[in-house]
Amino acid sequence: MELRMLGRAGVKVAPLCLGNMNFGSEKCDEALSRRIMERAVEAGLNFFDTANVYQKQKSEEILGRWLKEGGARRRDGLVLATKVYGKVGETDNDRGLSRRHILRAVEDSLRRLQTDRIDLYQCHHWDTVRIEETVRALDDLIRAGKAVYWGTSNFKAWHLTEATLVADRLHASVPVSEQCPYSITNRHVETELAPFCMKYNVRMLPWSPLNAGRLSGIYRKGKPIPDTPRNKSEVFRKRLESQMDLLESLGRLADELGRPLSQLAYAWLVRQPHVASVIVGPRTVEMLDDALASLDLKLSEDVLKKIDELVPPGSAPDFVGW
Ligand SMILES: NC(=O)c1ccc[n+]([C@@H]2O[C@H](COP(=O)([O-])OP(=O)(O)OC[C@H]3O[C@@H](n4cnc5c(N)ncnc54)[C@H](OP(=O)(O)O)[C@@H]3O)[C@@H](O)[C@H]2O)c1
Repeated sequence: MELRMLGRAGVKVAPLCLGNMNFGSEKCDEALSRRIMERAVEAGLNFFDTANVYQKQKSEEILGRWLKEGGARRRDGLVLATKVYGKVGETDNDRGLSRRHILRAVEDSLRRLQTDRIDLYQCHHWDTVRIEETVRALDDLIRAGKAVYWGTSNFKAWHLTEATLVADRLHASVPVSEQCPYSITNRHVETELAPFCMKYNVRMLPWSPLNAGRLSGIYRKGKPIPDTPRNKSEVFRKRLESQMDLLESLGRLADELGRPLSQLAYAWLVRQPHVASVIVGPRTVEMLDDALASLDLKLSEDVLKKIDELVPPGSAPDFVGW
């Protein structure tokens, strides 16, 4: 597997990262989560992403038990990423990017993950806390060896610029990566974040590469919509309906390549120069295999041009903000 630099960090990661958000959900219990993780490692993926809030902490706990069982060999083979920000306690202070919350949340994540260090500790969202406070707290964790690198998620370009420049001014560790919503039909990060990333050598880790499944290829005009765990909500159905023409056009392009739309969507993201690793969110081993199968798909200039015609660079027809 071809590995890439994780932005400004000195470690290399696979072009696909295993997102653990489904793990511990109703349709993806611990046994299935383990099978997915084992398949990922067997296929050469060395980068796992979770968060302290996923499935009410079950995601971190499942990953922690699996890591512990595999011993140092399993743990050391992985670049392990988790996140801090979401509310995990009773009080108003049990959330966000304050020094107080970060210092507590990291201990909780380390305990659940059953490890002594988090390789990439990410701010899950921007907060109104002074960025100096957040940067200092993260730098202290890195100096203490509890985190190795830190990154951001859902930061706008100016948030990331401020965090980077403040960290430089404080002679503290800088953010190495930004985990953002990015897909073939959601290209808003290309206008501001992408040039920032290229200039500062930060790399994106796109989340929801299939827009929660809308780009999976299972939605075609005139075909019945299968029930899936994610597509039940009215919001999902409305967005699906509004994107149907576009999804059909992209589906036809994928048909011409003899691949499902999901693989076209992954392959397109993987080749973006500002992307280090695409965070896939499989709920089954087959979904992971589908993502892995995209790694040998090379897109011609002609296909890239057709994609740009359907979804112009920087446009985001399937994005309503976050
Ligand atoms: N930083 C953040 O704020 C943030 C936010 C969201 C996610 N993330 C990270 O990004 C990862 C990926 O996000 P995501 O789960 O939203 O990614 P996604 O790839 O957009 O959506 C995953 C869903 O797509 C469907 N799917 C995937 N492969 C399929 C296939 N081959 N055929 C049919 N359907 C398929 C499944 O939906 P069904 O289960 O409905 O079948 C699956 O649960 C997460 O695990 C998490 O680590 C981060």
